[in-house]
Amino acid sequence: MDAGDHGADASRPDWWQREHSVPRALRLEVAESGLRAHVSLTRPAIEISLELLAVLRDFARPTRPATLFPDPAQQPARQRLVADLRGAGLLIPCQSPSDNQLPSGVLQQHRMLADRARVLAYKHAIEATCKGRVVAEIGCGTGLLSILAARAGANVVYAVEQGGIAGLAEEMVRRNGCQDRVRILRGHSRDIELPEKAEVLIHELFGSDPFAENLLPSLLDVQRRWLRPDCLLLPDRLEIFATALSVEKHVFYGLTPGAARTDISELERCYGVDLAAHGARIDALVQSEEVDGTGATVLSDTCCVLELDLTRLDATVCEMTHYASLPMRRGGSLAGLRLAFQASFDHEQAFRSDGPDSHWVPFERMFLAPIEVEAGARVPLQLYIEHGAERGRLVIDVPWK
Ligand SMILES: C[S@@+](CC[C@H](N)C(=O)[O-])C[C@H]1O[C@@H](n2cnc3c(N)ncnc32)[C@H](O)[C@@H]1O
Repeated sequence: MDAGDHGADASRPDWWQREHSVPRALRLEVAESGLRAHVSLTRPAIEISLELLAVLRDFARPTRPATLFPDPAQQPARQRLVADLRGAGLLIPCQSPSDNQLPSGVLQQHRMLADRARVLAYKHAIEATCKGRVVAEIGCGTGLLSILAARAGANVVYAVEQGGIAGLAEEMVRRNGCQDRVRILRGHSRDIELPEKAEVLIHELFGSDPFAENLLPSLLDVQRRWLRPDCLLLPDRLEIFATALSVEKHVFYGLTPGAARTDISELERCYGVDLAAHGARIDALVQSEEVDGTGATVLSDTCCVLELDLTRLDATVCEMTHYASLPMRRGGSLAGLRLAFQASFDHEQAFRSDGPDSHWVPFERMFLAPIEVEAGARVPLQLYIEHGAERGRLVIDVPWK
């Protein structure tokens, strides 16, 4: 368990006070060896002892571990069991209705709505596909994309949302006069059954690391239960792009070229002087092939290192290790990779997480120790997607001696 998981009292993790419950998708199988629990296609079945079964029963309804076990110091074994069940995805935290109403939650929603490249790419794809069809959206947030689907002529839209923001989505749907066609279904996708199979699935579960919101296990699960076999996925393709970075950073008194660029217009407003000539030099530095916006030296072009056809997902694709290689344009000390993703709709519309006004930020994977590389070398990469109980993660290794 991470140190960051703990609150002030080191013996109690922060989540100890949070309501947890057993996922509704949990299936128990009676096998020769005993009881086995399945929560998802992508996780192996787990042997369940009678002791574990008793703990699971305690969480049949949303319950705080702290309520059941008020003094963990006296029941360390029970606390370990709860932590193990949580780690295995057999206990999941219930989303608090207020999570999305905190100022940070509201502003985060606004950043997503204001990301025009993202929303307009979805709008275009929705208008090209949803008319006269049964549509489902997994993770509808404010409901914007489901409203666009209703406007585009969808027969019905099943908009599923696990968070308290579902209340806002209902209000948005009402105010936009779509309540006859958009049905908001509250809950996590794994707990929701649709009244009929969908012909189009809208999904936007991308974090800056696009696997952070457990995109693949969720898609895999709903593909099996919610969708017709020929269902269209919006988007249907995901690519990961990597740029190799060296440890050397072009930072001057804490100032990077990227930060300098964002300062320029602010300074112009403040002094009332046109600083464009100086700004062009900063731009040239930022756009030079050698220096990254954060000041790190760039050793490679930005290359696609993983491409997923989301219409062809199966448990193997989700669990497998993917291989790629990244050609070095310059030699140096390779410290890590800067990563971004592109989501595409039927090879036409696409949006990138490192686009100019994207609300996502590039994410990095730094290696344990820098690797000396020469210009022209191809650095081999191994990529796999870690699926945690609540969050996923793209992991990248360099299998290089
Ligand atoms: C990145 S936001 C996108 C919101 C909205 N679709 C949009 O485009 O503005 C993802 C939303 O999906 C919800 N979510 C993530 N995984 C989910 C799942 N498996 N089932 C239901 N909701 C989910 C989150 O609570 C969040 O509100």
